[in-house]
Amino acid sequence: MEFFERLVDRFYEGVQTDDVLAPLYPEAPDFSGARHRLTLFLAQYWGGPTTYDDERGAPKLRMRHFPFPVGPLQRDRWLQHMTNAVGASGASDEIRATLLGYFIPAAEHLRNDTGLPITSADYPR
Ligand code: HEM
Repeated sequence: MEFFERLVDRFYEGVQTDDVLAPLYPEAPDFSGARHRLTLFLAQYWGGPTTYDDERGAPKLRMRHFPFPVGPLQRDRWLQHMTNAVGASGASDEIRATLLGYFIPAAEHLRNDTGLPITSADYPR
C-alpha cells in the first residue's frame, strides 16, 4: 500500500499541472479523492486489500471513463506522468517493466476517442 501511495502521489504531482488532464477531473483542483481511488484500485489489482471494491464496487474502468474524452493526447499525457512516477519509485528494473507492461495497454484500453476530427455520429443513415 505504501508503494502505491507514493507512486500515485508522484503521478498526481504531474497530472495536477497538466493543462490537458487537470481540467478533466471533476473535483479539480482537489485531487485527494482521485488519488485515493487510484491508489486503492492499484493495490487491489496487484493482489492487495479489496478496499476499492468495498468502497466503489466493481471497477468497470472503461465505463467509469466514458464521461471524460480520452483520446491519444490524454492517453499519452497520462502515460507520461505514470512513466515518470514508475521511474522515480525506486522499484527494481523487473518491477518497473512489469508495471509499465500493464499501464501501457490499460491506458489504450480506456481510450474512448480516436482523436481524429471525424465522428460516426453524423454519418448518413
Ligand atoms: C488513459 C488516460 C486516462 C485518463 C485521461 C483518465 C482520467 C480519469 C479521470 C478524469 C477520472 C475521474 C477522477 C475521479 O475519480 O475523481 C479517472 C478515474 C479513475 N481512473 Fe483514470 N484516466 C486514464 C487512465 C487510467 C488508467 C490506465 C487507470 C488504471 C490503470 C485508471 C484508473 C482510474 C481509476 C481507478 C479511477 C477512479 C474510478 C472510480 O472509482 O470512480 N485511469 N480517470
